[in-house]
Amino acid sequence: MKAQLLDLVGDGTVPKPGAGLFRSLIILSAMTATLMACLATVDGLLADFGALPNLLDQGAVGILALDYLLRLAHAVARRPVGTPILAALRRYGLSVYGLFDFMAVVPFYLAQGLALSGDAHTITGVIQFLKLARYSPALETLGAVILNEMKPLQSALYLMLLLALTASTLLYFVERDTNPVGFGSVPQAMWWAIVTLSTVGYGDVIPVTPLGKILGGMVAVLGFGMFALPAGILATGFAEEIRRLNFVTTWNMVSKVPLFEPLDAHLIAEIANLLRVKRCIKGEVVIRQGDPGEAMYFLASGEVKVVSGHHTAGPGVILREGDFFGEIALISDVPRTATVVARGRCQLLELTAQDFRALTLANPRLRTRIEKIAQQRLASLGVPVSSSPTTLPEDL
Ligand code: CMP
Repeated sequence: MKAQLLDLVGDGTVPKPGAGLFRSLIILSAMTATLMACLATVDGLLADFGALPNLLDQGAVGILALDYLLRLAHAVARRPVGTPILAALRRYGLSVYGLFDFMAVVPFYLAQGLALSGDAHTITGVIQFLKLARYSPALETLGAVILNEMKPLQSALYLMLLLALTASTLLYFVERDTNPVGFGSVPQAMWWAIVTLSTVGYGDVIPVTPLGKILGGMVAVLGFGMFALPAGILATGFAEEIRRLNFVTTWNMVSKVPLFEPLDAHLIAEIANLLRVKRCIKGEVVIRQGDPGEAMYFLASGEVKVVSGHHTAGPGVILREGDFFGEIALISDVPRTATVVARGRCQLLELTAQDFRALTLANPRLRTRIEKIAQQRLASLGVPVSSSPTTLPEDL
């Protein structure tokens, strides 16, 4: 029982019963707590609902508190052998997510205990939203992108500041006498420059002299290009980082497939680039008997059932994590010999027929190993086995 409770907050690498539901509950609780804090700032809105808003808020934070306690217990119970309890607690408690978990709970109760004003509730509501960072790679990805793109971002920032400074100084000289409220000093003119360069243009401060207007127009046009630069750098960085993350995920999955185990890391990376991750739900038909073969699959997680009219009896063959299927149609250029159905959620790595041909042409040993298993499978289907299953009987 205790172990099952701790599994609810595991790292999620191995799916545990109830963990998905608990995770949804935490996400819902954090969102509820933040929503309540935001709604509480609207005068009189929650008063009409009596005790309900407070109950929802307390319930949501109570669940976040339970999650925090479970995570502390998890850190102690699942600590590496030989690690002292305090060190394990410190490691979790001072980790970024550990701190977010702490901040989602303790400031809320502290503000209540000390009967602090409604502002404290509003602030804790925003902090509680940080709790969701654990379930989204967004913050980590953003951090990695900023670090990776630090140099181009610094250059873009410098150009933006230079432009803002030049524009505000020029407009200060041109407009200070006729328009002292907005351009009476360089810092005052800076507000106009930033609002114009960023293309926000509130319109609260505008140049009135003809020269001021001409300069203002030029600054606005320059703003288009200059202020779009950091956005472009970040967008490219994001795309690159996500491609890298996907590659690492696929690489990890590929290295778990026994067929690829003996291959060196360089080749595994090459294969990881060819494979596409495909997710299936329970009952989904991945391959249908008789269809043409367009790809083969490696099971990264979950199970599938192979059912064929050729299987004389039995409930079908179960394939598990690390197994592959869909190779016969590609090797022998025949229709699919069986139907393959997902037995639950599974993650597959798809290799297209074209990539399969290129890969096995370049790696004859890999092809031999796949062929060997294909032959065993064909034999179990009652198909006569030749030394190489390149031709199959018509009825397949
Ligand atoms: P293919 O014929 O391309 O599509 C159906 C797949 O089911 C087939 O390739 C094999 O990968 C798989 N398959 C067929 N028969 C068996 C079996 N007896 N055991 C395991 N897998 C099988």
